[in-house]
Amino acid sequence: MRLYCLGIVVEQTNTVQETISDTLVDIEREAFREIESVEAIEAMERLATKYIGRKGILTAFLRNITQLPVDERPSAGKNANLLKVRLEAAFNELKSRLESATEDSGSLIDITLPGRVPARGTLHPVTKISREIISIFSRIGFEIAEGPEVETDYYNFEALNIPKYHPARDMQDTFYVSENIVLRTHTSPTQPRIMEKVKPPVRIIAPGKVYRCDSDVTHTPMFHQVEGLMVDHNVSFGDLKGTLSTFINQLFDDDIALRFRPSFFPFTEPSAEVDIECVMCRGEGCRVCSRTGWLEVLGAGMVHPAVFENVGYDTDEYTGFAFGMGIERLAMLKYGIDDLRKFFENDMRFLRQF
Ligand code: DAH
Repeated sequence: MRLYCLGIVVEQTNTVQETISDTLVDIEREAFREIESVEAIEAMERLATKYIGRKGILTAFLRNITQLPVDERPSAGKNANLLKVRLEAAFNELKSRLESATEDSGSLIDITLPGRVPARGTLHPVTKISREIISIFSRIGFEIAEGPEVETDYYNFEALNIPKYHPARDMQDTFYVSENIVLRTHTSPTQPRIMEKVKPPVRIIAPGKVYRCDSDVTHTPMFHQVEGLMVDHNVSFGDLKGTLSTFINQLFDDDIALRFRPSFFPFTEPSAEVDIECVMCRGEGCRVCSRTGWLEVLGAGMVHPAVFENVGYDTDEYTGFAFGMGIERLAMLKYGIDDLRKFFENDMRFLRQF
């Protein structure tokens, strides 16, 4: 009798029983030898098809069992089925081993790699210095006030003693929203807004955004200011000087000289422009201070009686001082930034330094 399996014709020289078991042993030996050398899932699948697939060797063997004598069939069938079970188990085990090896090898996920560190935000230098300014002033008893960025002409100008068509309006290039609504050109409108609401003593600072129709190397259409106001009995220019020098010394963490130059603002009388000793060259004269040794940083003065009258304060009883300064300007000096535009470009390399 000839058994057609393995694609090989097995000559039946011994008893049928021996031949069958020999054949199964050969199939098993050959299958496991091949299984051992498999390194990829595709090769393993090809092998599984070769042995236990629909047209596989073992399947062919089982089909050919009908050619055996009837009494040989049960044990041949049983042995072949047991081999099939062993092979299936071997292929399954091999498959899961190959799959987990693929995952571990990094082609999918290498779980031993350190995770990606999420990008951490940093405070914008303007936010950082604003917080510092707030903290210094709150330590000396000032409260924080806020006002709207879209402001009425009244608070932005008229309440501050800048009537319509007054030439002082030219000091600031205004964005008009409508005839009587503007984008505030300074933080000073917070002064009348607060004074209308509270009776002296008043001690506030008001940081925030301001807008001017101006754009070049040293001007941006939006920037930040902080306003200060103190009103009480007997507030003097000396109090203004003391407050400002305390503030500047704390902000720059150093003993820095201040210089008050007479100036004009419609809402203060007398008015002054305040310079600080150049923080870069300590007064020697350098590029930053245009060789003068001084840096202009703020405007200030004693609150004009007309402003008090607009908010209903008694000018015989109260006096006060006010000041206003640009936050970017202070940040440039404190952090050594040489170009105003860097604040608004959102370049991560710049921002990460703070
Ligand atoms: N508001 C002025 C400006 O934007 C700055 C200023 C000057 C504010 C004098 C004041 C002050 O409170 O007293 O140019």
